[in-house]
Amino acid sequence: MKDRLQELENDALAAIGDAESTASLQDIRVAFLGKKGAVTDIMKGMRDLAPDERPAVGALVNSLKESLEKAFSSRNSALQQAAVDERISSEKIDVSLPGRQSFSGSKHPVTLVTEELVEIFGKLGFCVAEGPEIEKDFYNFEALNIPKDHPARDMQDTFYVSDDLVMRTHTSPVQIRSMLKQEPPLRVIAPGTVYRRDSDITHSPMFHQIEGFLVDKNVSFGDLKGILTHFLTSYFGDKLGVRFRPSFFPFTEPSAEVDIACVICSAKGCRVCKGTGWLEILGCGMIDPEVFKSVNYDAEQFSGFAFGMGIERIAMLKYGVSDLRLFFENDLRFLRQF
Ligand code: PHE
Repeated sequence: MKDRLQELENDALAAIGDAESTASLQDIRVAFLGKKGAVTDIMKGMRDLAPDERPAVGALVNSLKESLEKAFSSRNSALQQAAVDERISSEKIDVSLPGRQSFSGSKHPVTLVTEELVEIFGKLGFCVAEGPEIEKDFYNFEALNIPKDHPARDMQDTFYVSDDLVMRTHTSPVQIRSMLKQEPPLRVIAPGTVYRRDSDITHSPMFHQIEGFLVDKNVSFGDLKGILTHFLTSYFGDKLGVRFRPSFFPFTEPSAEVDIACVICSAKGCRVCKGTGWLEILGCGMIDPEVFKSVNYDAEQFSGFAFGMGIERIAMLKYGVSDLRLFFENDLRFLRQF
């Protein structure tokens, strides 16, 4: 009996050692220790033994079972560990490989220039204000001293939405909205989209302007010149030539247009400046007392200046872009350069 048990143990241990997966190990376990397994058979056979033999054989069978259980469990852990190792090595990733690149967009040049201008004027104490793009005739014209039959309405070919509503032709209505809301002193910068019935290489029916205005006691034309010269030289460069030319706007008096020395040809004269060496860059002037009247400001007590400029035009000069339409075609080859 002892020999049989020994033989059984040897067979079982050999089979356990040879098992190559946890599944086949389980089959082996069933074959030896299962309900119909070899060891169980022996235990059933103990009935036939003489009673005085049973304790000794029982002890042997128990120690056999114990030793097999131990062997099974250690082989089982070894197989599990091997499976884990195998998975780790087959699934490993090469962290030194380059990742997939995601393309990040860039800001539109009109946005870039707007932010740059807002920052320069922000440092001078100007705050941003906005107004609607569909504007009442009153804010776009009437309150700016441009009555219904005023010839100056022809200066700006207007898209009418209705008799009383227009697509705003400039950002100047924000002057009126701000002044009606607030008492002086006032320093406002107002960027926004504007619309005119005009379309060619230098005109687009939709474009952007930035308006600035300041109202306080004792504001003079000298303040206007100082602030605008500071702005233009800090944006386009210290040595930039700047000149003020008399002009006309119904809402400013006196009015001026400001030219800068051509940044394309360094004022030598080229196609862009039409040989003059100068580029017109903005309109400005002292706010007309008629405008103060329409917002109930006391023109005896307060004075102020206003200016307005086209953002695309500034962007064209700053970045050397020769065709305005590039700003609106959304060609990524163009936009990615900014
Ligand atoms: N609104 C004028 C234009 O669109 C520009 C301007 C603004 C002129 C403020 C003077 C003062 O042409």
